[in-house]
Order: sequence, then structure tokens, then C-alpha cells
Amino acid sequence: IPVEPFDYVVFGGTGDLAERKLLPALYHRQIEGQFTEPTRIIGASRSALNDDEFRKFADTALKEHLKPGEYDDAQVKIFLDRLFYVSVDAKSDGGWDKLKKLLDDGKDRVRAFYLAVSPAIFGAISEKIRDHKLITKSTRIVVEKPIGRDLASALELNDTIGKVFKEEQIFRIDHYLGKETVQNLMALRFANALYEPLWNAQYIDHVQISVAESVGLEGRAGYYDTAGALRDMVQNHILQLLCLVAMEVPSSLDSEAVRDEKLKVLRALKPINDSNVEQMTVRGQYRAGASAGGPVKGYLEELEGGVSNTETFVAIKAEINNWRWAGVPFYIRTGKRLTGRMSEIVITFKQIPHNIFENAAGRITANQLIIRLQPDEGVKQSLMIKDPGPGGMRLRNVSLDMSFAEAFNVRNPDAYERLLMDVIRSNQTLFMRRDEVEAAWRWVDPILKGWETTGQLAQGYTAGTWGPSQSIALIERDGRTWHEG
Ligand code: BG6
Repeated sequence: IPVEPFDYVVFGGTGDLAERKLLPALYHRQIEGQFTEPTRIIGASRSALNDDEFRKFADTALKEHLKPGEYDDAQVKIFLDRLFYVSVDAKSDGGWDKLKKLLDDGKDRVRAFYLAVSPAIFGAISEKIRDHKLITKSTRIVVEKPIGRDLASALELNDTIGKVFKEEQIFRIDHYLGKETVQNLMALRFANALYEPLWNAQYIDHVQISVAESVGLEGRAGYYDTAGALRDMVQNHILQLLCLVAMEVPSSLDSEAVRDEKLKVLRALKPINDSNVEQMTVRGQYRAGASAGGPVKGYLEELEGGVSNTETFVAIKAEINNWRWAGVPFYIRTGKRLTGRMSEIVITFKQIPHNIFENAAGRITANQLIIRLQPDEGVKQSLMIKDPGPGGMRLRNVSLDMSFAEAFNVRNPDAYERLLMDVIRSNQTLFMRRDEVEAAWRWVDPILKGWETTGQLAQGYTAGTWGPSQSIALIERDGRTWHEG
């Protein structure tokens, strides 16, 4: 469905995010016929480019980041023609009048400002936007993580943006919420009668959320070494996944209804602090090994001589203190330079209460529902069946396995495509509300502090493995094992 005409102003328009994600995503939305003319995309950053140079930059970005066959000369031409560029500086007034003049040509359009820049200048840019009177009644602002590095800095950042924009104008992106399978999690839970009656402590034994990456630092050492896996992945993406698995059924898909329910989950997370951090968490750091098809350096070598206790892997046994989930652990783990790129959510149901097949050959395995986020998005439900044939009552664990790529012959859109258009549609359901971000930090802060007070070290693990052995011990202690998809 086409959206209203809009002007998307991308601060950091010549940066990495614009190049790899935003421009290709907008190009795809154009191809899908979602734009209504006149629609413009305006790059804004400090570099002194003109429109043509920005168009060249965008053209190269598309050539490099579109999949084979997606670059269509005619479509690219239309796309490049809608691009403009203004050189502005967050710290001075240079260029802002030019931006205003350009935007004044489209006063009635939806206006979105995407801050693909360092959070350190979110405040300065917001103020310039306000001072130069660029805010219309249909203006929105989009910000990316990291939203703070702890609760205090998140509060400060939210305050700074909140001084200029109202909450309903602020779109805090967590790109995991734009992933197809993540949205499918809601469909699976709330559009089927099958699962919801069983979706609780009475029938579910435990939940696992694994987000494994094969990449290392990717040239982001400066940021990553001050962040680490807990801040980089858990505070946002993984807690969002956990919320979608654990939340109560919202009364509608309305953004406030959904976010109210997620917030309740975050607030019910059992605190992990100095007293239990060593039992509930494992930190890891990769050493040299083999990953992504070849030998790779260890984290410290990648840092080039640095000394660091930053974790590139974290595993946590999380618990939710509410009626639905009492006693059901949520084991979460994420890391860089692991065996491969693989993310999944595994729901393990309880064992049957009484086994009438005692004499049957084969063990009864507890049912598992596996939601694969990437790669090869899909859903798999394991079931016990009778082995075919007259050989007696032999039982076997089999899977109903649906790969979305095979089931639907359609392109899997990138997460940003959905989210960028939701901004224009003013639909905040898949964006984080201020109180959610803060509640997530309220849970994460005491873990960070606990690591500091107890001096918990990041354990070495060989690149290309599943992380340190302590992570295996964390779950095996409870008589369970990680699902290795
Ligand atoms: C980002 C993190 O938010 O998510 C990166 O900063 C990480 O460190 C990335 O690599 C993972 O995203 P995806 O979509 O590739 O799973």
C-alpha cells in the first residue's frame, strides 16, 4: 500500500548505515511501488558534496549492496533523481538555511529526520532542527542504538531528544523488530489457537535465545570495545526477542498496547546483581581460531595491542518473576566469531506427565518449537511419532519443518524496509518506547556493576566455536543443553 509523499532527511547520509542499509532499503520500497510522488531523500552530513556527488555515492552503494538482479537501470535512475544533498554541521549554523529552503518546497509532506550519526550529537542536531524551524506537524525523528551506555546516559539522551520532540514523534529503531521472523513470532503466538494455552510455566520447561555471529569487530573497535556484547546485543535486540516470547497477549496491535505488555516483562525480570552475577552470567572473549571460512585473529590482536576485558560473548540465565513464567529459565547467549551466523529461539516443552510407551523402543523427547530468525528463516516443530512399519511400537522424534524461502517464493525484505515505511505511516508498534529502553537498562546496569565488583573475567574461547565452556556449564548445571541448530 503506497504511503503519503515524504521527505526523508538522513543525517549521516554518506555513512556506513546509509550505504549498507538505508539507501538499498528505500530503493526496494520504491520498486515495490510504495512511494507516492513527489518523494525525496535528502542526504545531510558534514562532507562537502553536491547532489550529483551524493547520487554517485548512492549509485555505488546500490551496486555494492543489492543482490544480483536487483539493480534495475530504469528504477535506479528514478531513485537517484529523488536524491538531494545538503552539507550541514551539527555544531554550527552552516547549511541549515539551505536545508530549510529545500524542505520548504515540501511543507505538506511527511518529514522524517533519520539520525544515522553518533548519539553524542543527537542533542545538537535536534536543537538545530528546532531552532531552524524545520518541525512541521507531520515530522518524525528516527534514532538508532546505542541509546545510552547505561541507565543514566539513556535518561539523559531521552531527555535531550524529548525536549525537542514529543514521544509520538520519536522512533527508536531496534532493527530486530523489523525482521520477518520476529514479526512472525507474534503471528505464531496470537493468530493460532494451538500454542497460547500451552505458553506458560505449566507446559514450557525453558526457553533459549541464541544470536550467534561469525563476524568479528568489522572495523568498529572504537565503539565495540567500550560496549561489549551485553550492551551491544542483549540490552536491545535480545531483550526485545525475550519480550515478544514472554509478553501477555496485547488487546490489539496498537503500538501502546504492544509496548505496554513488553514493558511489563522487562519490569518483571529477576534482578541479576553482585550477589548472583557469577552464577547467572558468563562472559567470553574470542581468541584466534577459524571462522567465516578461514583463520581469524583473536579479539586482542584485532584491537591491535590493547588490553581489554570487554566481552564478545555473553550467556545469561534470565528469569521472569510473574505468574506465567515462574520457574522457567530463559537462557540467552550471543557472541561474535562463533560457529556461524545463526539466530534462533527454542521453546522446549515439558516432558509428558506419564509414559505409556515404557516398553517401546526409543526415548520420548520433549517437544520443541524452534523459530529460526536467520539464516533460512522458518519454524520447526518437533513431534514424537510412531516409526512406520509393522516392527512394533517404535517411537521417533521428527520435525514439521517450514522454511519460509521454500514455502513462499518471495524476496525476504530487509528489516529496515518495513521500519523505514512504518515511520512514514507513523506506526510505532515495532519501535521502542522511552520507558522500554530505560527498563532494559534498569536490568542491565546491575549486571555491568556486578561484573565490575566481582571482577568477573571474560573467558577465552576459540573463534569458530560456541563460546567458552562455562556457557555450556551454565545450562548443563540445570540438566539441560543448548540447542545447536
Ligand atoms: C547491531 C550490532 O545492532 O546488530 C552489531 O551493533 C551486530 O554488533 C548486528 O553485528 C547484528 O545484526 P544482524 O541483523 O546482522 O543480526
